[in-house]
Amino acid sequence: MKQTTDFLKMKESNEKIVMLTAYDYPSAKQAEQGGVDVILVGDSLGMVVLGYESTVSVTLDDMIHHAKAVKRGAKDTFIVVDMPFLTYHLSMKDTLMNAGRLIQETGANAVKLEGADEVIDKITAITKAGIPVCAHLGLTPQSVGVLGGYKVQGKDANAAKKLIEDAKKCERAGAFAIVLECVPKQLAAEVSKAVSVPIIGIGAGLDVDGQVLVYHDLIGYGVERVPKFVKQYHSVHPFMIESIQAYAADVRNKQFPEEKHTFTMKEEELKVLYG
Ligand code: KIV
Ligand code: NA
Repeated sequence: MKQTTDFLKMKESNEKIVMLTAYDYPSAKQAEQGGVDVILVGDSLGMVVLGYESTVSVTLDDMIHHAKAVKRGAKDTFIVVDMPFLTYHLSMKDTLMNAGRLIQETGANAVKLEGADEVIDKITAITKAGIPVCAHLGLTPQSVGVLGGYKVQGKDANAAKKLIEDAKKCERAGAFAIVLECVPKQLAAEVSKAVSVPIIGIGAGLDVDGQVLVYHDLIGYGVERVPKFVKQYHSVHPFMIESIQAYAADVRNKQFPEEKHTFTMKEEELKVLYG
């Protein structure tokens, strides 16, 4: 299993870091078999597996429940778990307890927090408590209400300047990596140059230190439309629907079960049964 220090070295040697989300036992097993460097148990699970409108409905217990299943499926991969909405804002004590639960109860390796500003001292405290922290800047979905939608961030020079400063603050606070979501590629490249910790991009172009995608987006599972920044490698959804439709038709046409799916009793036993 790779460690936080390995990710730093990968940045130094310009070796890209591969991150993918997973939310349960089979997706985690597939991510590990597929050879990703880091699994993110993202609070995107609220949308892609729980069917919520946004990530703000996700609770700490939801994250723990899913992260445990992910750990069971990927014992040898570094796992980052999202701290969900409002679990790292109320007080330092709550923040540390919540981060602690996410690690202790699931066996995950690190937590991820969105934002800078008032979150910086939380990154410091969690790191000092011994829990590695991944920061998350740019488009921060837990603040979608404040941001006014899922939009590209840092498009003007002032916002870009603040983002670069925020990345430096996250690094100084002890973050071992920073997810950078939905920013212009030129800004993402500047952010990557400005810090020594790896920048894991999503909708941030090629000139960063790694990439992350949502599992369901990548394989086309249960998602109808994907954002511009997603590369969909397959669309498994139609195959799944086809399988279910074929099953339904087989049952209705008495084509299933076939002989090979069926158990039989020996003749002599049947004689005893019928007398
Ligand atoms: O929740 C999530 O899946 C994320 C990634 C999109 C970075 O935070
Ligand atoms: Na997230």
